[in-house]
Amino acid sequence: MTLLVEQERNDALLAWYRVERRSFPWRGESDPYKVLVSEVMLQQTQASRVIPFYERFTARFPSAADLASADLKDVLALWTGLGYNSRALRLRETARIVTRDGWPTTPVGLVELPGIGPYTAAAVASFAFGEQVATVDTNLRRVLSRWHGESLSGPTLHSVAADDLGHPAADWNQAMMDLGATRCLPRNPDCTRCPVAQWCVGPDSYRPPTPQGRFEGSARQLRGAVVRSLVGGEATGREIAGHTGFPVKDVERALADLSDEGLVSDDGTGTYRIAE
Ligand code: ADE
Repeated sequence: MTLLVEQERNDALLAWYRVERRSFPWRGESDPYKVLVSEVMLQQTQASRVIPFYERFTARFPSAADLASADLKDVLALWTGLGYNSRALRLRETARIVTRDGWPTTPVGLVELPGIGPYTAAAVASFAFGEQVATVDTNLRRVLSRWHGESLSGPTLHSVAADDLGHPAADWNQAMMDLGATRCLPRNPDCTRCPVAQWCVGPDSYRPPTPQGRFEGSARQLRGAVVRSLVGGEATGREIAGHTGFPVKDVERALADLSDEGLVSDDGTGTYRIAE
């Protein structure tokens, strides 16, 4: 690939993005705390569903210091519905660390914080701190695999992303997210309306993963229902089973897992509550 191709492709991508960009409340945000809240919420949830949760959460906890001093119960009350509640617990831990020590500004520093993996570290570093790094996730993997006509993964994927990355990374990353969400879709890519189709091998090199198994989906629903029930007030496993309709045995297993993760505590008599 010559430099000229990369330059032309990125120019076309960024020109398209300036006109077609999707509007989100976190777009253009450079406060690392708000960027982090949005990215953690977006880790497993569709962007359109995240919007009201993000707005309520950042209105109630406008800064890392506000979140750092919040009760977990109040945090989870604004989180349930998004699912994966342990993300909220880790977010509060990170808020406590940065309130005390300040923010790391590089991916290497950010990835040390609880709940921040390489993708989220790159997102915060590029959106909040202007670092020139690519946000490598499944979306980017799909788009880059199609550009290059081979299924990219691991270190190769990261090095191709670094080579292809345009300036500034914050715009390029979000342009790639929008391209992946609106044109370069997993199953039905809309190549006729793609701004960079002329510099792309085509969609066949990428095979979409099989959808989440039924088992994982229902285990997640159960955990979500248990947490929502406890946000409403303390309860025994049997009571939660009664509220939620899940079998007592399954509820008790979920309570044990949630206790191990520090989201839930019990008083030794079988009554559970959201942890402090
Ligand atoms: N998915 C993950 N991060 C996103 C962002 N910043 N904008 C839109 N979708 C995203």
